[in-house]
Amino acid sequence: MITKAIIPAGGLGTRFLPATKTTPKEMLPLLDKPAIQYIVEEGIQSSIKTFIVVTGKNKSVIEDHFDTYPELENFLHARKKDDLIEGVNRIINTANFIYLRQREPLGLGHAIWTARHTIGKEHIAVFLPDDIIVGSTPCMAQLIQIALQEKCNVVAVQEVPIDQVQNYGVIGIRKQFSPNLFQIKELVEKPHPTDAPSNLAIIGRYVLSHNIFNALDEMKIGAGGEVQLTDAIQTLLLSGEKVFAYKIQGTRYDIGNPLGLLKANIDLAMRHPKYANDVIDYLTSLDRELLIMQGKVAMLKKSRISGAFKI
Ligand code: G1P
Repeated sequence: MITKAIIPAGGLGTRFLPATKTTPKEMLPLLDKPAIQYIVEEGIQSSIKTFIVVTGKNKSVIEDHFDTYPELENFLHARKKDDLIEGVNRIINTANFIYLRQREPLGLGHAIWTARHTIGKEHIAVFLPDDIIVGSTPCMAQLIQIALQEKCNVVAVQEVPIDQVQNYGVIGIRKQFSPNLFQIKELVEKPHPTDAPSNLAIIGRYVLSHNIFNALDEMKIGAGGEVQLTDAIQTLLLSGEKVFAYKIQGTRYDIGNPLGLLKANIDLAMRHPKYANDVIDYLTSLDRELLIMQGKVAMLKKSRISGAFKI
Protein backbone atom coordinates (compact mmCIF):
# COMPACT_ATOMS: atom_id res chain seq x y z
CA MET A 1 0.00 0.00 0.00
CA ILE A 2 1.14 3.54 -0.73
CA THR A 3 -0.56 5.80 1.79
CA LYS A 4 1.68 8.84 2.23
CA ALA A 5 2.08 11.79 -0.09
CA ILE A 6 4.34 14.81 -0.04
CA ILE A 7 3.01 18.10 -1.39
CA PRO A 8 5.74 20.71 -1.77
CA ALA A 9 3.89 24.00 -1.28
CA GLY A 10 6.64 26.38 -0.23
CA GLY A 11 7.04 28.27 -3.53
CA LEU A 12 6.61 32.04 -3.65
CA GLY A 13 4.31 31.93 -6.69
CA THR A 14 6.20 34.69 -8.52
CA ARG A 15 4.58 33.79 -11.87
CA PHE A 16 1.26 34.81 -10.36
CA LEU A 17 2.14 38.11 -8.70
CA PRO A 18 0.56 40.32 -7.50
CA ALA A 19 -2.29 37.84 -6.73
CA THR A 20 0.14 35.70 -4.71
CA LYS A 21 1.71 38.50 -2.68
CA THR A 22 -0.31 37.49 0.40
CA THR A 23 -2.41 34.57 -0.86
CA PRO A 24 -0.56 31.28 -1.41
CA LYS A 25 -0.89 30.16 -5.04
CA GLU A 26 -2.16 26.80 -3.73
CA MET A 27 -5.20 28.65 -2.33
CA LEU A 28 -6.24 30.37 -5.58
CA PRO A 29 -9.73 29.20 -6.55
CA LEU A 30 -10.56 26.65 -9.16
CA LEU A 31 -14.31 27.15 -9.40
CA ASP A 32 -15.41 26.99 -5.75
CA LYS A 33 -12.42 25.19 -4.20
CA PRO A 34 -8.82 26.20 -3.59
CA ALA A 35 -6.46 24.48 -6.02
CA ILE A 36 -4.78 22.38 -3.32
CA GLN A 37 -8.11 20.77 -2.44
CA TYR A 38 -8.16 19.15 -5.91
CA ILE A 39 -4.70 17.69 -5.19
CA VAL A 40 -5.83 16.28 -1.85
CA GLU A 41 -9.01 14.87 -3.42
CA GLU A 42 -6.95 13.17 -6.14
CA GLY A 43 -4.77 11.73 -3.36
CA ILE A 44 -7.70 10.39 -1.34
CA GLN A 45 -9.18 8.82 -4.47
CA SER A 46 -5.79 7.14 -5.01
CA SER A 47 -5.56 5.57 -1.49
CA ILE A 48 -3.47 8.29 0.18
CA LYS A 49 -4.25 8.74 3.87
CA THR A 50 -1.51 11.12 5.05
CA PHE A 51 -0.45 14.34 3.33
CA ILE A 52 2.86 15.88 4.28
CA VAL A 53 2.66 19.47 3.15
CA VAL A 54 5.98 21.30 2.94
CA THR A 55 5.19 24.97 3.33
CA GLY A 56 6.97 28.27 3.85
CA LYS A 57 6.17 31.74 5.10
CA ASN A 58 2.62 33.08 4.55
CA LYS A 59 1.19 29.59 3.95
CA SER A 60 -0.67 29.04 7.21
CA VAL A 61 -4.08 29.48 5.54
CA ILE A 62 -3.50 26.07 3.93
CA GLU A 63 -3.52 24.57 7.45
CA ASP A 64 -6.63 26.56 8.34
CA HIS A 65 -8.42 25.30 5.24
CA PHE A 66 -7.91 21.65 6.23
CA ASP A 67 -9.08 22.25 9.79
CA THR A 68 -12.45 22.51 11.50
CA TYR A 69 -14.06 25.95 11.90
CA PRO A 70 -16.82 25.58 14.55
CA GLU A 71 -18.06 29.18 14.27
CA LEU A 72 -18.67 28.86 10.53
CA GLU A 73 -20.05 25.32 10.89
CA ASN A 74 -22.60 26.44 13.52
CA PHE A 75 -23.56 29.43 11.40
CA LEU A 76 -24.18 27.25 8.32
CA HIS A 77 -25.91 24.53 10.33
CA ALA A 78 -28.44 27.02 11.73
CA ARG A 79 -29.28 28.02 8.15
CA LYS A 80 -29.36 24.42 6.83
CA LYS A 81 -26.39 25.14 4.55
CA ASP A 82 -23.97 22.51 5.87
CA ASP A 83 -23.48 21.24 2.31
CA LEU A 84 -21.37 24.32 1.49
CA ILE A 85 -18.41 22.93 3.44
CA GLU A 86 -19.34 19.26 3.38
CA GLY A 87 -16.60 18.37 0.86
CA VAL A 88 -13.74 19.84 2.84
CA ASN A 89 -15.12 18.46 6.12
CA ARG A 90 -15.14 15.00 4.59
CA ILE A 91 -11.44 15.45 3.80
CA ILE A 92 -10.73 16.60 7.37
CA ASN A 93 -12.45 13.48 8.70
CA THR A 94 -10.69 11.14 6.27
CA ALA A 95 -7.09 12.30 5.93
CA ASN A 96 -4.17 13.24 8.18
CA PHE A 97 -2.07 16.31 7.57
CA ILE A 98 1.50 16.96 8.62
CA TYR A 99 2.97 20.40 7.96
CA LEU A 100 6.67 21.10 7.70
CA ARG A 101 8.52 24.26 6.87
CA GLN A 102 11.11 24.40 4.13
CA ARG A 103 13.64 26.67 5.80
CA GLU A 104 15.35 27.89 2.65
CA PRO A 105 14.10 28.02 -0.97
CA LEU A 106 16.74 25.63 -2.29
CA GLY A 107 14.54 23.89 -4.85
CA LEU A 108 12.04 21.06 -5.30
CA GLY A 109 14.53 18.37 -4.28
CA HIS A 110 15.26 20.20 -1.04
CA ALA A 111 11.51 20.56 -0.31
CA ILE A 112 11.02 16.80 -0.69
CA TRP A 113 14.11 16.08 1.46
CA THR A 114 12.57 18.25 4.21
CA ALA A 115 9.91 15.52 4.65
CA ARG A 116 12.44 12.67 5.12
CA HIS A 117 11.74 12.10 8.84
CA THR A 118 8.03 11.49 8.25
CA ILE A 119 8.59 8.55 5.88
CA GLY A 120 9.59 4.99 6.78
CA LYS A 121 10.84 2.24 4.48
CA GLU A 122 7.95 2.67 2.07
CA HIS A 123 7.13 4.14 -1.33
CA ILE A 124 5.73 7.68 -1.33
CA ALA A 125 3.58 9.69 -3.68
CA VAL A 126 4.62 13.22 -4.64
CA PHE A 127 2.16 15.80 -5.96
CA LEU A 128 3.35 19.12 -7.40
CA PRO A 129 0.38 21.38 -6.70
CA ASP A 130 0.97 23.59 -9.77
CA ASP A 131 -0.10 20.65 -11.92
CA ILE A 132 -3.82 19.97 -11.96
CA ILE A 133 -4.83 16.93 -13.97
CA VAL A 134 -8.41 16.69 -15.11
CA GLY A 135 -9.70 13.32 -16.25
CA SER A 136 -11.85 10.34 -15.41
CA THR A 137 -9.23 8.23 -13.52
CA PRO A 138 -7.22 10.02 -10.82
CA CYS A 139 -3.69 10.45 -12.18
CA MET A 140 -1.97 9.27 -8.99
CA ALA A 141 -4.06 6.09 -8.92
CA GLN A 142 -2.70 5.29 -12.41
CA LEU A 143 0.90 5.66 -11.16
CA ILE A 144 0.34 3.73 -7.93
CA GLN A 145 -1.10 0.81 -9.84
CA ILE A 146 2.06 0.57 -11.97
CA ALA A 147 4.39 1.05 -8.98
CA LEU A 148 2.74 -1.83 -7.12
CA GLN A 149 2.54 -4.06 -10.16
CA GLU A 150 6.13 -3.52 -11.35
CA LYS A 151 7.70 -2.81 -7.92
CA CYS A 152 9.32 0.32 -9.29
CA ASN A 153 9.46 4.11 -9.17
CA VAL A 154 7.08 5.85 -11.56
CA VAL A 155 6.94 9.38 -12.95
CA ALA A 156 4.07 10.85 -14.93
CA VAL A 157 4.98 12.16 -18.38
CA GLN A 158 3.33 13.93 -21.25
CA GLU A 159 4.49 14.81 -24.75
CA VAL A 160 5.31 18.49 -25.22
CA PRO A 161 6.49 20.43 -28.28
CA ILE A 162 10.29 20.09 -28.48
CA ASP A 163 10.81 23.86 -28.15
CA GLN A 164 9.19 23.69 -24.68
CA VAL A 165 11.33 20.93 -23.15
CA GLN A 166 13.56 23.41 -21.34
CA ASN A 167 10.64 24.10 -18.96
CA TYR A 168 10.54 20.49 -17.74
CA GLY A 169 12.39 17.44 -16.60
CA VAL A 170 12.68 15.18 -19.65
CA ILE A 171 13.15 11.41 -19.87
CA GLY A 172 15.14 9.18 -22.18
CA ILE A 173 13.59 5.78 -22.91
CA ARG A 174 15.28 2.42 -22.32
CA LYS A 175 12.32 0.23 -23.31
CA GLN A 176 8.69 0.76 -24.31
CA PHE A 177 6.22 -1.78 -22.87
CA SER A 178 2.95 -0.39 -24.21
CA PRO A 179 1.84 2.85 -25.90
CA ASN A 180 1.91 4.60 -22.52
CA LEU A 181 4.43 2.73 -20.38
CA PHE A 182 8.22 3.13 -20.61
CA GLN A 183 11.28 2.13 -18.67
CA ILE A 184 13.51 5.16 -18.24
CA LYS A 185 17.17 5.25 -19.29
CA GLU A 186 17.96 8.77 -18.09
CA LEU A 187 16.36 11.95 -16.77
CA VAL A 188 17.51 15.49 -17.54
CA GLU A 189 16.16 18.60 -15.84
CA LYS A 190 15.38 21.56 -18.12
CA PRO A 191 17.48 20.47 -21.12
CA HIS A 192 18.08 22.62 -24.18
CA PRO A 193 15.95 21.23 -27.06
CA THR A 194 19.08 20.03 -28.86
CA ASP A 195 20.20 18.02 -25.79
CA ALA A 196 16.78 16.63 -24.80
CA PRO A 197 16.63 12.80 -24.90
CA SER A 198 12.94 12.98 -26.02
CA ASN A 199 9.93 15.26 -25.87
CA LEU A 200 8.40 13.30 -22.97
CA ALA A 201 8.21 15.82 -20.13
CA ILE A 202 7.78 14.96 -16.47
CA ILE A 203 4.62 16.38 -15.00
CA GLY A 204 3.97 16.81 -11.30
CA ARG A 205 3.11 13.28 -10.12
CA TYR A 206 5.64 10.73 -8.88
CA VAL A 207 5.75 7.48 -6.90
CA LEU A 208 9.21 7.05 -5.41
CA SER A 209 11.01 4.61 -3.17
CA HIS A 210 12.21 5.91 0.22
CA ASN A 211 15.77 5.69 -1.16
CA ILE A 212 15.05 9.02 -2.83
CA PHE A 213 16.01 10.62 0.48
CA ASN A 214 19.49 9.05 0.37
CA ALA A 215 19.88 10.41 -3.15
CA LEU A 216 18.73 13.84 -1.98
CA ASP A 217 21.18 13.76 0.94
CA GLU A 218 23.87 14.58 -1.60
CA MET A 219 22.22 18.01 -2.07
CA LYS A 220 23.59 18.13 -5.60
CA ILE A 221 22.99 21.56 -7.14
CA GLY A 222 21.44 21.23 -10.59
CA ALA A 223 19.56 23.30 -13.18
CA GLY A 224 18.76 26.85 -12.10
CA GLY A 225 21.19 26.54 -9.16
CA GLU A 226 18.63 24.43 -7.24
CA VAL A 227 18.49 20.94 -5.74
CA GLN A 228 16.46 19.09 -8.35
CA LEU A 229 14.21 16.08 -7.71
CA THR A 230 14.90 14.93 -11.27
CA ASP A 231 18.64 14.64 -10.50
CA ALA A 232 17.89 12.57 -7.38
CA ILE A 233 15.70 10.21 -9.45
CA GLN A 234 18.60 9.88 -11.90
CA THR A 235 20.82 8.92 -8.91
CA LEU A 236 18.22 6.26 -7.93
CA LEU A 237 18.32 4.93 -11.47
CA LEU A 238 22.13 4.72 -11.49
CA SER A 239 22.01 2.88 -8.15
CA GLY A 240 20.07 0.12 -9.93
CA GLU A 241 16.44 1.00 -9.10
CA LYS A 242 13.83 0.59 -11.82
CA VAL A 243 12.22 3.86 -12.86
CA PHE A 244 9.20 3.80 -15.17
CA ALA A 245 7.36 6.60 -16.92
CA TYR A 246 3.66 6.55 -17.59
CA LYS A 247 2.03 8.76 -20.21
CA ILE A 248 -0.97 9.74 -18.14
CA GLN A 249 -4.58 9.84 -19.24
CA GLY A 250 -6.09 13.26 -18.61
CA THR A 251 -5.52 16.92 -19.36
CA ARG A 252 -2.82 18.69 -17.39
CA TYR A 253 -2.94 22.38 -16.52
CA ASP A 254 -0.07 24.41 -15.11
CA ILE A 255 -2.05 26.59 -12.74
CA GLY A 256 1.02 28.40 -11.45
CA ASN A 257 0.34 31.13 -14.03
CA PRO A 258 -2.84 33.11 -14.83
CA LEU A 259 -3.52 31.60 -18.26
CA GLY A 260 -3.18 28.03 -16.96
CA LEU A 261 -5.54 28.72 -14.07
CA LEU A 262 -8.06 30.32 -16.42
CA LYS A 263 -7.98 27.32 -18.78
CA ALA A 264 -8.35 24.87 -15.88
CA ASN A 265 -11.30 26.87 -14.56
CA ILE A 266 -13.02 26.75 -17.95
CA ASP A 267 -12.41 23.00 -18.37
CA LEU A 268 -13.64 22.19 -14.86
CA ALA A 269 -16.67 24.47 -15.26
CA MET A 270 -17.62 22.73 -18.50
CA ARG A 271 -17.61 19.37 -16.67
CA HIS A 272 -19.49 20.65 -13.60
CA PRO A 273 -23.26 19.96 -13.44
CA LYS A 274 -23.92 23.30 -11.75
CA TYR A 275 -21.92 25.48 -14.17
CA ALA A 276 -21.65 23.56 -17.46
CA ASN A 277 -24.73 24.92 -19.26
CA ASP A 278 -24.13 28.56 -18.34
CA VAL A 279 -20.46 28.42 -19.23
CA ILE A 280 -21.10 26.75 -22.58
CA ASP A 281 -23.80 29.36 -23.40
CA TYR A 282 -21.41 32.13 -22.42
CA LEU A 283 -18.53 30.74 -24.49
CA THR A 284 -20.85 30.28 -27.46
CA SER A 285 -21.98 33.91 -27.20
CA LEU A 286 -18.32 35.01 -27.09
CA ASP A 287 -17.63 32.86 -30.11
CA ARG A 288 -20.45 34.59 -32.01
CA GLU A 289 -19.08 38.02 -31.06
CA LEU A 290 -15.62 36.90 -32.10
CA LEU A 291 -16.96 35.86 -35.52
CA ILE A 292 -18.68 39.24 -35.93
CA MET A 293 -15.44 40.97 -34.92
CA GLN A 294 -13.43 38.85 -37.35
CA GLY A 295 -15.95 39.75 -40.07
CA LYS A 296 -15.51 43.44 -39.31
CA VAL A 297 -11.72 43.15 -39.36
CA ALA A 298 -11.88 41.31 -42.68
CA MET A 299 -14.13 44.04 -44.15
CA LEU A 300 -11.80 46.72 -42.83
CA LYS A 301 -8.79 45.04 -44.43
CA LYS A 302 -10.68 44.70 -47.74
CA SER A 303 -11.75 48.34 -47.83
CA ARG A 304 -8.18 49.42 -47.04
CA ILE A 305 -6.81 47.36 -49.89
CA SER A 306 -9.42 48.73 -52.33
CA GLY A 307 -8.61 52.28 -51.16
CA ALA A 308 -12.20 52.91 -50.10
CA PHE A 309 -11.16 53.37 -46.49
CA LYS A 310 -8.19 55.48 -45.45
CA ILE A 311 -6.96 56.49 -41.99
C1 G1P B 1 9.20 20.89 -11.79
C2 G1P B 1 10.17 19.71 -12.00
C3 G1P B 1 10.21 19.33 -13.48
C4 G1P B 1 8.81 19.01 -13.96
C5 G1P B 1 7.86 20.20 -13.67
C6 G1P B 1 6.42 19.81 -13.99
O1 G1P B 1 9.73 22.01 -12.44
O2 G1P B 1 11.47 20.09 -11.56
O3 G1P B 1 11.04 18.21 -13.66
O4 G1P B 1 8.85 18.75 -15.34
O5 G1P B 1 7.91 20.59 -12.30
O6 G1P B 1 5.51 20.82 -13.72
P1 G1P B 1 9.22 23.51 -12.11
O7 G1P B 1 7.96 23.69 -12.87
O8 G1P B 1 9.02 23.58 -10.63
O9 G1P B 1 10.31 24.41 -12.59
